[in-house]
Amino acid sequence: MLEIKNLSVEYEHKPVVRGVSLSLAPGEIYCIIGRSGNGKSTILNAVNGTLGAGGRITEGEISLSGEVLFGNGKYSGAIHRMHGRQLAWISQYPQRSFDPLFTIGKQMRELMLIKRRISKAQAKIEGCRLFEKLQLSDSERVWNSYPHELSGGMCQRVAIAMALVNEAEILLADEPTSALDVTIQAELVRLLRNVANTEKLGILLVTHNMDVAHALSDRIGVLRDGILTEVEDKRVTAFH
Ligand SMILES: Nc1ncnc2c1ncn2[C@@H]1O[C@H](COP(=O)(O)OP(=O)(O)OP(=O)(O)O)[C@@H](O)[C@H]1O
Ligand SMILES: [Mg+2]
Repeated sequence: MLEIKNLSVEYEHKPVVRGVSLSLAPGEIYCIIGRSGNGKSTILNAVNGTLGAGGRITEGEISLSGEVLFGNGKYSGAIHRMHGRQLAWISQYPQRSFDPLFTIGKQMRELMLIKRRISKAQAKIEGCRLFEKLQLSDSERVWNSYPHELSGGMCQRVAIAMALVNEAEILLADEPTSALDVTIQAELVRLLRNVANTEKLGILLVTHNMDVAHALSDRIGVLRDGILTEVEDKRVTAFH
């Protein structure tokens, strides 16, 4: 369970996020929608501990599974422990979730090694099984590929696999479908919904795309000038 209480963030003393509160239960998908520049990515980065230079949380508390990630004006050690484990991320730019210098398989195994000792051969078996579950055909080729050898849609599936490999509780997804073409977008939306349900993964998702928000979300919050308002009627059609 992710809990954000009264979060305010500023960049170079300019308020960007103002008093945002939300909670996200296992298996639930919360979509944040809103116009460009309203602070959507800033909320995800605040949770992830990756605000850019000059970014600062001025108020609030963030906790995950009862552990405080940010509280009393600072990040706790828990945020580092939780990266690649309870807390996972999919980027807007499919290839950017990965290190370009290493194969997907090597990067998957590194993640597995955070939690347990595992041989190369066993890591490959488990990784390929996970790829197949995410409908990545030719899983062995994916395992042996470098990130630039995969399409955008494949990269997003691999990023989801990386979230599942260490049983992440929360996936932060910043416009995960916007770089993909329409049919691939729809497949990824179905896959995310499916994974949330079956793996009890909570997904905090930012999107510009109302169709994506409707198809995916359990709840929708509209962000305007850094203030988040949850919509009661999910059939909201505009966020201006
Ligand atoms: N590293 C940074 N340094 C200074 N200002 C920043 C930084 N990152 C974001 N901002 C500012 O914070 C505000 C919110 O940015 P943010 O990226 O969160 O918006 P967004 O809602 O995700 O927009 P988009 O839909 O375009 O991705 C913007 O005014 C932006 O210029
Ligand atoms: Mg953004």
